[in-house]
Amino acid sequence: MNIEDCRKDFPILERSFHGRPLVYLDSAATSQKPTKVIDAEAEFYRTLNANVHRGVYALSEEATAAYESARERTARFIGAKDPEEIIFVRGTTEGLNLLATSLGRSHLHKGDRVVSTEMEHHSNIVPWHFLREHPGITLDFIGLSDDGELIPSDVERLVTKGTSVTTFTHVSNVLGTLNPVREIADRARDAGSLSILDAAQSAPHMKLDVQKLGVDFLVFSGHKVFGPTGIGVVWGRKELLQQMAPYMGGGEMIMEVEKGKVSYKDPPYKFEAGTPNVAGAVTLAAALDYVEGLGWEAVASHERDLVADAWTRMNDAFGDKIRLYGPSPKKGHHGVVSFALKGVHPHDMASLLDNEGVAIRAGHHCAQLIMRRYGVPALTRASFSVYNTKNDTSRLLDALSKVEAFFRGPG
Ligand SMILES: Cc1ncc(COP(=O)(O)O)c(C=O)c1O
Repeated sequence: MNIEDCRKDFPILERSFHGRPLVYLDSAATSQKPTKVIDAEAEFYRTLNANVHRGVYALSEEATAAYESARERTARFIGAKDPEEIIFVRGTTEGLNLLATSLGRSHLHKGDRVVSTEMEHHSNIVPWHFLREHPGITLDFIGLSDDGELIPSDVERLVTKGTSVTTFTHVSNVLGTLNPVREIADRARDAGSLSILDAAQSAPHMKLDVQKLGVDFLVFSGHKVFGPTGIGVVWGRKELLQQMAPYMGGGEMIMEVEKGKVSYKDPPYKFEAGTPNVAGAVTLAAALDYVEGLGWEAVASHERDLVADAWTRMNDAFGDKIRLYGPSPKKGHHGVVSFALKGVHPHDMASLLDNEGVAIRAGHHCAQLIMRRYGVPALTRASFSVYNTKNDTSRLLDALSKVEAFFRGPG
């Protein structure tokens, strides 16, 4: 992968802010889009746009074929056996809400236990919290070690008989931790628990293979994998999807509607009520082609290098004035570097860095359990993607030095 060629694929990187060329270090929030993806969406609307599964005319049939071919492309992307195991949703948040709501209706009963972790994004906590009220589940959390890993004895204690669902993230959006998915999934299966993987932060960085990961469900967002907003994916084992209750009700998901009774289509259509995001799905397929075209080995080694370099240089430059969160890159740290600089509130930090043309994220990153665990109100996070360079990290470090000097004051 030639990084300069790769950067040219992303027209937005030519923009400047406050008189400085953009340094975009917020790809964990959303990735930038390559020209091929931007063009794919325009091309869909220029040549293919029609509603799907409805028309008997040729244009609608072509739109339907493109939508279903995007489903096949997505299945290949994650190693799913059957495209019918792919449900298109708006993103990871909707995907996790679909799973919680549907399992809450069809599989979970009063007193059942769902196990999540302290490193989850709120989208993998709040939908389960809803089920505390109805049907009345208990929700437990695997805790975090000081350096941001799941505590193994908590996994052993909680992923055990009596647990109905184990739901956890592949890579933490704050700590960069890569979780031992296979180990937890095997343990869950042995205990009779379903397992759900939030792959929002792994899908952009590594090859996903649902057969090897061993989970029952996996969810990710298109916009973090160079695709458009408003499209995401739920993958689930077919035999489970067949048993599950529908999520939203409406057109396209039914077989028959009578006054007193409704019957549903088979998955995935049972879970896709209403007009789907056809353009989004077709454009997502172009994004998946793009990232696979770069080559996973090249993507992973480039990003590993960037994260390790940023980690070392930030520690070297600020010593005990900075605290970096999550496991060290030697242990495995992916995509993001979250930090606190002594005496500087993360929100002030993000505004001052913006003045230098550096776009990073400050806040609780929709992961307040992590903030509580480490006793901080917020953190600043730099996140990296294929188009970032070590020069971007140099610009970040220069800007951080200015911020640190500003808050240190004269003398
Ligand atoms: C780990 C993780 N899960 C879920 C989400 C929610 O994704 P979305 O906002 O695309 O639904 C995010 C978004 O940042 C995330 O990082």
